[in-house]
Amino acid sequence: MPDITQTAAWQALARHRRDTAGISIRDRFAAEPDRFARMHGQIHGLLADYSKNRIGEDTLSLLVSLAETARLPQKMQAVRRGEPVNASEGRPALHAALRLPPDAPPVCASGENVLPEIRRERERALDFADRLISGAYANADGLPFTDLVNIGIGGSDLGARMAAAALAPYHTRLRVHFAANADGAELSAALAGLDPRRTLFALASKSFTTPETLLNAHAARDWLRQGGVGENELPRHFAAVSAHAEAAAAFGIAAENRFAMPEGVGGRYSVWSPVGLPLMAAVGSEHFRAFLAGGHAMDEHFFTAPLRRNLPAILGLIGIWYNNFHGAQTHAVVPYTHLLRHLPAHLQQLDMESNGKSVTQSGEPVACDTGSIFWGGEGVNSQHAFFQLLHQGTRLVPVDFIVPVNTPEAAQNRRFTAANAFAQAEALMLGKTDPAPHRRFEGNRPSNTLLIDRLDPFTLGLLIALYEHRTFVQAAVWDTNPFDQWGVQYGKTLAQTILSELDGGENRPHDHSTAALIARFRQQDKSA
Ligand code: F6P
Repeated sequence: MPDITQTAAWQALARHRRDTAGISIRDRFAAEPDRFARMHGQIHGLLADYSKNRIGEDTLSLLVSLAETARLPQKMQAVRRGEPVNASEGRPALHAALRLPPDAPPVCASGENVLPEIRRERERALDFADRLISGAYANADGLPFTDLVNIGIGGSDLGARMAAAALAPYHTRLRVHFAANADGAELSAALAGLDPRRTLFALASKSFTTPETLLNAHAARDWLRQGGVGENELPRHFAAVSAHAEAAAAFGIAAENRFAMPEGVGGRYSVWSPVGLPLMAAVGSEHFRAFLAGGHAMDEHFFTAPLRRNLPAILGLIGIWYNNFHGAQTHAVVPYTHLLRHLPAHLQQLDMESNGKSVTQSGEPVACDTGSIFWGGEGVNSQHAFFQLLHQGTRLVPVDFIVPVNTPEAAQNRRFTAANAFAQAEALMLGKTDPAPHRRFEGNRPSNTLLIDRLDPFTLGLLIALYEHRTFVQAAVWDTNPFDQWGVQYGKTLAQTILSELDGGENRPHDHSTAALIARFRQQDKSA
């Protein structure tokens, strides 16, 4: 693909940016009474209002032309058909295939229909989760398991952790916990108060080589042993999800408790696969199927709607407008419910691991900025933490407000939080005049508001798939690969040498700073 920044579509946007510099969002609202009507979209219970942005219809047309120049529609269909869109690893990206309903036509990757295996492993995992919940799958004493602890990191943790917390009102009797950090403290906290004889561990690792996960998995097995679980009972206390069955088997996971995920699904896109086992166990198979159905409904919209009416495409393109034409470096996500408290972390991995790239698909250096720094926190708490900078700081930070209408909470709480979200978005956009400079708000600060009728499994599926496709849209424009992660792959091996030194091994050559820190750590290490 030619350098996107050299295309007529890109240059037209650069000119448009200069030509519209003097028009504020406030001016646009004053001049366009139908602005909200034109600049929002709704898919089932999810409404996306993108009218509070520095855009007009002309901006959207230019952005759509940019997407067409970048061949976004063709790239979308390549994902849908299971083509090897992840070129550096020679793999397809099968997250949408994971959400297909039973009557879907085949998806062929390298000439083979991938759906039968996807379905078989999903059904096995769902059946396992339902048997755990009902107690049909029990411990050696015939007693039901009371707790499931997921051990995994990155995409083998964040998606399921986020979704399980979001769907807390749908939880069954089984309690689910998560441990990702290898510092030991998180696992200890997860295990506090649990009965080893009634606890099952789900080991989630696509590669089954991630050192953090293996460290915690061994610690979990020791904890079970110390808790009186006999050697012959141990396999009953473990399940594993991996693309490498042999490695899970080598750890001692019984064949019937091993669930496969396809190589063509990246960790950050994998909550829809058996990596979602903790979510399945938390809410049961019926709700998990509704979650998949929500994801699929968003796929159908994304793969079929014209770009101007396509929500993931529009949100992704507006993100490019700020990133590449306004110099915005970050993008904030603020869900106005404690239930979605882990959403910013999930989206942070999704977007930053996908779009934190500096070469194109053909290996050329990119000619523009790529992925935004994704960050955020739950509302209303964030208003009392970082919103000052959003309102009066010098940086432009586009914000996504995510606001559920119906949650199980009392009306006064739901209305209070929603009122705050709407007020913040309005204030960011309108600003406020005041003779005192420190009380002045310049306004013209953009945001999207995603209004969610009910935070149920289906709508959560819609929301998560929306962001997955938004991420893809941006990568398609930049011609980068959103499905590999060589940067973090390298990180997996970086610590090995230093670890052997901290363990008392021979000193290795380092810069003076690193050498001094290693020496100081060894001096102060009480367990040495
Ligand atoms: O941090 C890098 C990464 O490869 C992520 O992409 C992935 O989600 C995580 O590690 C966990 O990997 P695995 O599932 O193989 O343990």
